[in-house]
Amino acid sequence: MQMRRKYLALFMTSIAAIGAIAAAPPKPDGAQIVHEGNGAGAPACMSCHGPTLGGGGAPAIAGKPAAYIVSRLEHYASPQGHNPAMRQVATALSPQERVAVADYIASLPAHP
Ligand code: HEC
Repeated sequence: MQMRRKYLALFMTSIAAIGAIAAAPPKPDGAQIVHEGNGAGAPACMSCHGPTLGGGGAPAIAGKPAAYIVSRLEHYASPQGHNPAMRQVATALSPQERVAVADYIASLPAHP
């Protein structure tokens, strides 16, 4: 009986753990943010940076190191960031979204 209660407790704890994993927010999708925006105020990066992020109205960013992109986004979101377009973008991205988007952009081929 004692043993059975122990197993029951273990079982209940496992159920709770599985519930916690299922409730965790999904990891942001960097590719989706680049192509469609984040649905929370950040427009698609490609709408200004070009279809392959090789530049257009905005500088080429494809293939730049992820750490560089994250640091630029943090700059634009900070009081030192004076570019209105990128301030809007950067402040609308969560820290996790900045990392996800930077990882994706870094994985793209750079434009010479
Ligand atoms: C509304 C247009 C617009 C959108 C949308 C946009 N950008 Fe920008 N971005 C710009 C402009 C303009 C600049 C250049 C600003 C400057 O001169 O500092 C820039 C600069 C940058 C830079 C710095 C480039 C460098 O080498 O100095 C990064 C990194 C960047 N954007 C990333 C992004 C990401 C990631 C997204 C999507 C989440 C995005 N941008 C969406 C207009 C945009």
